[in-house]
Amino acid sequence: MPSPTATLSTALALFLLLLTLTPSAAADTAAAIYSNATTGYVYLGCYNETTAIAGTSGDRALSGGTNEVKPGNMTVEMCLGFCATGATKYKYAGLEFARECWCAQQLSPLAKKQPDGECDLPCEGDKTELCGGSLKLTIYTVGAASSIRIAWTAGLVAVGAAALSMGLL
Ligand SMILES: *[C@@H]1O[C@H](CO)[C@@H](O)[C@H](O)[C@H]1NC(C)=O
Ligand SMILES: *[C@@H]1O[C@H](CO)[C@@H](O)[C@H](O)[C@H]1NC(C)=O
Ligand SMILES: *[C@@H]1O[C@H](CO)[C@@H](O)[C@H](O)[C@H]1NC(C)=O
Repeated sequence: MPSPTATLSTALALFLLLLTLTPSAAADTAAAIYSNATTGYVYLGCYNETTAIAGTSGDRALSGGTNEVKPGNMTVEMCLGFCATGATKYKYAGLEFARECWCAQQLSPLAKKQPDGECDLPCEGDKTELCGGSLKLTIYTVGAASSIRIAWTAGLVAVGAAALSMGLL
């Protein structure tokens, strides 16, 4: 008969294992919104491209910055890296049409936030990540939220260490 403590730690171990397994299992089956706080960018949302809006002379949602198109190779990491390195670390980075990366210091007020599901194209360089849609952009911004998330993770690690030292795990 296992002791109650042994049973508790087995349950905890299984729970932690499930936590680590679930996201990767989901990523295998469908493209998901890429999120990595250490890139310095946080996900802002899915926005409309503005080129088709009357009276804007075809202005882009993210204009005045720089861009690159990588058929077959684009990933979110590639785009965030492209927008962050160079003379300017751009405030906004947007992925569009599975292969385009747009960097800018401002987001056009004409670009409206859409439901996340409107950005439905997997990146051509990594099918597990979402890279916008047709005339839709998956937009990231330089965010304070990244430091909050790091603090939260550090908090979890501290709780885990405390549990270990109390002999709970
Ligand atoms: C997260 O981003 C950092 C910085 O760009 C990178 O070094 C690291 O490999 C990334 N981690 C994952 C899991 O993608
Ligand atoms: C934005 O996208 C939605 C969904 O595709 C569309 O219905 C709407 O007309 C678009 N709005 C603009 C301003 O382009
Ligand atoms: C895509 O990556 C491959 C392999 O690294 C490279 O040969 C090719 O030139 C790249 N294509 C583009 C458009 O960058």
